[in-house]
Order: sequence, then C-alpha cells, then structure tokens
Amino acid sequence: MTSFGLIIAIDGTAASGKGTISRKIAHNYCVPHLDTGLLYRLVGYHVLQGIDPIDAANQLNVKQAEVFDLKTLQVSNAASEVAKNPSVRAKLLEFQRRFASKPGGAVLDGRDIGTVICPNADLKFYITACSEVRAQRRHSELLVLGHKISYESVLREIQERDERDTNREQSPLLPAEDANKIDTSDMNIGEVYDLVCLIIEAKLEK
Ligand code: DC
Repeated sequence: MTSFGLIIAIDGTAASGKGTISRKIAHNYCVPHLDTGLLYRLVGYHVLQGIDPIDAANQLNVKQAEVFDLKTLQVSNAASEVAKNPSVRAKLLEFQRRFASKPGGAVLDGRDIGTVICPNADLKFYITACSEVRAQRRHSELLVLGHKISYESVLREIQERDERDTNREQSPLLPAEDANKIDTSDMNIGEVYDLVCLIIEAKLEK
C-alpha cells in the first residue's frame, strides 16, 4: 500500500457526525485517528471526581478512555467547561501535535484542529448540522447505550455546549478559512462519507 501521508483535520459542532466520519476515514486509509474531544472528556471526568483540571490534564492517560463512561451529559458539559481553561488547552495541545506529527499521516477530529492544532493540515473539514437534527442523532445513540434521557434535555445540552464552545476566548469553535464546510442536516452518514472521500481522493491525485 502507498503511504497516505496526509494530515486531515475534521472539526465541527457536537454530535455533527464528525467522529463517525473520522473513524471511517482512518479505517479506510489505515491511518491513526485521534478523537480530541475524548481528551477533554477525560479531563472533565476527573474534574467531576474532584481533581484539579490542570493536574488532570498533566496526568492524562488516554487508555482510561476505554474504561470510563465518557459519553454522559455530565461529562460532556464538564469537558466543555474545562475546555475554556488555557492551561488545560496548552497541555492537551502538546499531546495532539505529537500525535499529528506521526509519519504516514493522521486524522484528528475536534473543534480547533484546523485553526490551532494543525493549521498546516493538508485537508480541513468543518462538519455541522442544525441543532435539532444533531440532538435527534445523539438522543438515539444514548438510548442505544442504555441512558434514560429525554430528547429535550439532549437538545438543551447541545445548544448550551455550542454556545460555550463558540464563544470562549481560547481557540473557539469556528471553521478554518480553508476548510471544506459540510452541512449534514439533510444528509445521511453514507452521503457525508462519500463526499469527504471524493475530496480526499482529489487531493491524493494531485
Ligand atoms: O467532540 P466532543 O463532543 O467529544 O467534545 C467534548 C468537548 O470538548 C466539547 O464540547 C469542547 C471540547 N473540545 C475542545 O474544546 N476542543 C477540541 N479539539 C475537542 C473538544
């Protein structure tokens, strides 16, 4: 197999489908993938246990992501709160940049990959959808995982998180100027994936 070699930044709003797309791309092209939201979720999880956010970021152990339930609304909110802290962001930035510098390329998804972590990424995507569609998708996922929760509370949480992630001072959520912007409100995951692959293939041919 030829070396992929591209750094791909996939940013976007909560529950936009960016994680699913990133995993599929990484699997298809056999490149490592980092879900950077998980790093903030891990720090948020520890903060909920009473640990200082900076200590939690300094002691980051990504293996723990396989052990703890990081998908709850409480952890989502705690992650979005700690993400405002510049010292936490600085610590996690180092980890993300090291990951992105692996030879052979990488796929990273998050909020500030194309703007701050990998401003020189070969390809950037910004994936979003209207908040009602994202809440429906996240609600169905949570029900499958056994969480008993209403659609309304998921929608509220997503809208609050959008507001916090977009309006914070440090590395706010916003599309990089050179990002391919995709609104997935009226698309299924297969259609989004096909479109992203087309753009990657065009880049690989250059
Ligand atoms: O992608 P996610 O929903 O798992 O992310 C959880 C929170 O982490 C999100 O609300 C904001 C924060 N985050 C961030 O600030 N920067 C990133 N690159 C990834 C996530």
